[in-house]
Amino acid sequence: MANYSKGLEGVIAAETKLSFIDGEKGVLEYLGIPIGELATYSTFEETVFLLWNGRLPTKAELESFNAEIRKRYDLGKEVARMVLDMPQTAEPMHVIRTLVSALGLYDPKPNAIDLASVRDKALTVLAQTPTMLAYFQHHRKGTPIVLPDRNLGLAENFLYMLNGKRPTPTMAKALDVCLVLHTDHGLNNSTFSARSVISTESDLYSALTAAIGSLRGPLHGGANEGVMKMLNQIPSVDAAEAFIQDKLAKKEKIPGFGHRVYKSYDPRAKHLKVLAKQLAEDTGNAGLYEKSARIEAVMEREKAAKGIYPNVDFYSATTYHCIGLPLDLFTPMFVVGRVGGWSAHILEQLADNRLYRPDVDYKGPHAVSYTPIEKR
Ligand SMILES: CC(C)(COP(=O)(O)OP(=O)(O)OC[C@H]1O[C@@H](n2cnc3c(N)ncnc32)[C@H](O)[C@@H]1OP(=O)(O)O)[C@@H](O)C(=O)NCCC(=O)NCCS
Repeated sequence: MANYSKGLEGVIAAETKLSFIDGEKGVLEYLGIPIGELATYSTFEETVFLLWNGRLPTKAELESFNAEIRKRYDLGKEVARMVLDMPQTAEPMHVIRTLVSALGLYDPKPNAIDLASVRDKALTVLAQTPTMLAYFQHHRKGTPIVLPDRNLGLAENFLYMLNGKRPTPTMAKALDVCLVLHTDHGLNNSTFSARSVISTESDLYSALTAAIGSLRGPLHGGANEGVMKMLNQIPSVDAAEAFIQDKLAKKEKIPGFGHRVYKSYDPRAKHLKVLAKQLAEDTGNAGLYEKSARIEAVMEREKAAKGIYPNVDFYSATTYHCIGLPLDLFTPMFVVGRVGGWSAHILEQLADNRLYRPDVDYKGPHAVSYTPIEKR
């Protein structure tokens, strides 16, 4: 029996050329390019091209990739109708999981797993998740749906559809940077789920649906909502210290801190911190940023020695709030970005597939005789 590792910590389950993480040094690279460079110079669409093709696009390739995505912004009429039939009280993560799954119903060849077909389907999912979320937001608010604008990039178009007016360039860029930072991250739980499902030679929709289910959990992508709820519970900057100390005394975890891989500052959090500060000042939310910074200072004093630092979710909460997203769209935004990474991993898995099938270490009894029901 091979070594057992609870939570699969330290187990290498796949080879990848997509993203590299050094948890001790706080490094994240996509195809060798440091995440900070991509956040500064690239766009979400270009970053997805990089992950799907293993290299940056030429100008012409990027233009054609952008055009392919924009062409697919509109939902098919069946899926659009489905959004309008959803309960207005539904949680957006359940909505997006259901709708991504539903795309398979209207695909004439949902099970095709040759690489060209999978890329084509993934492009549609990438283009349509923002539209699904914006439509659902209007549906639950009872406001008229805003059709996508193909002249706009993915992040800008999402904010346009959500608010009915074009965002400022600063807001559009901020959301785009968030998407770049969230696109890929090694064999995290949801990516593992996606690779595991596709390794059975199932289909893209099933693999992405499983990944979305995984991402929803509060230990994974759901943590950004947990952070915002915590910030809302803390009445003032000065109340932050006592709030955190009280939670730590009760051995509760602080959302947005700690990571299975990073034992130093998460490089994504470093960028989001700068972004959150700027946006908070620009949007009259400086108090929210101050509260976050105070929490970080307390956690630094109490937990940095144990390798617990802010993760990607901590400052993304303030960033999303300042962009004007409702709290329960924070984790769905993570989905929009991660569809790029999940799809890249699905393609990588299919290119050199072997079924995932780990073992368990059985700890139960053996050779137990069956007791008839009347004797139990
Ligand atoms: C991300 C996470 C699940 C990683 O978990 P893990 O690798 O399984 O690590 P563990 O939960 O076993 O934690 C190891 C130790 O650090 C502590 N710890 C980890 N995260 C902590 C946090 N956010 N707040 C306080 N203590 C924390 C644990 O209590 C544990 O302490 P102990 O050794 O004294 O028992 C965990 O850090 C966590 O739950 N964080 C909060 C949720 C979150 O932000 N998730 C998003 C991740 S991107």
